[in-house]
Amino acid sequence: MPTNSLTITDNRTGKTYEVPINEDTIRATDLRKIKVDDDDFGMMTYDPAFMNTAACRSAITFIDGDKGILEYRGYPIEQLAEKSTYLETAWLLLHGELPTKDELTVWTNTITYHTFINENLKFVLDSFRYNAHPMGMLIAMISALGTFYPEAKNIFDEDVRNRQIERLIAKMITIAGFGYRHMVGMPYAYPDNELSYPANFLNMMYRTTELKYEPDPALVHALDVLFILHADHEQNCSTSTMRVAGSSHVDPYSSVAAACAALYGPLHGGANEQVIRMLTEIGSKQNIPAFIEKVKKGEGVKLMGFGHRVYKNFDPRATIIKKAAYGVFEVTGMSPLLEIAVELERIALADEYFVKRKLYPNVDFYSGLIYQAMKFPMDMFPVLFAIPRVSGWLAQWCEMLNDPDQKIARPRQIFTGSRKRDYKEIGQR
Ligand code: SDX
Repeated sequence: MPTNSLTITDNRTGKTYEVPINEDTIRATDLRKIKVDDDDFGMMTYDPAFMNTAACRSAITFIDGDKGILEYRGYPIEQLAEKSTYLETAWLLLHGELPTKDELTVWTNTITYHTFINENLKFVLDSFRYNAHPMGMLIAMISALGTFYPEAKNIFDEDVRNRQIERLIAKMITIAGFGYRHMVGMPYAYPDNELSYPANFLNMMYRTTELKYEPDPALVHALDVLFILHADHEQNCSTSTMRVAGSSHVDPYSSVAAACAALYGPLHGGANEQVIRMLTEIGSKQNIPAFIEKVKKGEGVKLMGFGHRVYKNFDPRATIIKKAAYGVFEVTGMSPLLEIAVELERIALADEYFVKRKLYPNVDFYSGLIYQAMKFPMDMFPVLFAIPRVSGWLAQWCEMLNDPDQKIARPRQIFTGSRKRDYKEIGQR
């Protein structure tokens, strides 16, 4: 009768070990009993970048990378993008179920109510040079925001935790909008709480002298869809950072600041900015073959917006964004870079180098084209990723805190350095 276990034979000693299998995994700590000598530390797994390591059990987001499937709490991303809103999706991620009408009304009013930030935070923003990158400002501002709410350290008080979640989701658009206004030297545009979440963000970005900023509904909808698509993505680099930082039981503002820092990287949330720079550098469809050859030669040039650790098929978000792009361009006018992007995708998807490595467009390949068409400066693109991802980070953080399996994260290492050396006086070095 087959048992749910591995039988491991250590050929160094001839000993065999039974290791139980649960949910198609084995516990790494079960390997510690595999030793040559009794005083050995015992067997570990070596998995740099966690290529094949489940760090947690989660019920929030399901991805099937081979089939290009993405579901938030079981709901297909295609349906949420078509029928939901970002705030409703944020509730779904945090609570596990779609909100009732009353829940959504209270939730929306609560988030709207919390969009203002303490006036003193403007001095933090004012301290930055005009050309400071908005992600650097966002990281600093979120950390500074946390200092206004010392009670946030009571992370095991659910009411306190929920209040900080509401504040972070609500104030992300205000901090992002204020950061942009600082960049362009314009006065801060305050929240207009009669507007929807995405519309309020556009208001705080672009309002000038008009008493009431009225963004184009098509652009508001496109931004809401982009926020839905970016809200969570299981254990990606920034979410893992949120979980690791949060495992020390630090307040959520500090964990979110850490997650933002991880997202800032060009291989992660910074990729959408790099896609636009890449398309601009290519310049025309005629230059695509030469660029592709540079990528294939491995001259340190990547096809930004392509490839994914999990998706070995189309990133379903890229497919949705590509369609949404055309809706935006009907309002803003066609992006000159879209033609290059579409041709680049066509050529890459037919090229053995990309096919063999299962490199497809990811969420970042087309999102930058929409942001650029909506007049967001490129530096703001990773900020546009961080705004909605904060709800995913917070949902994952809550799940981690409530998971009895979890404790402070502290990986092991394979030591490769020198041992037991005596101190050398400076004259002997
Ligand atoms: C996001 O994890 C998430 O869920 C992230 C995210 C989210 O929602 O949180 O989906 C958001 O970060 C999307 C990814 C955005 N980044 C980019 O578009 C940057 C370009 N992409 C690559 O850097 C890369 O594809 C990664 C970082 C996304 C994934 O890298 P992996 O899984 O570590 O794969 P790898 O680097 O080991 O690549 C495998 C092979 C290598 O070639 P060989 O050494 O086998 O010859 O594929 C090549 C790589 O050189 N390769 C690429 C490539 N991506 C991988 N070659 C050219 N262009 C690329 N984009």
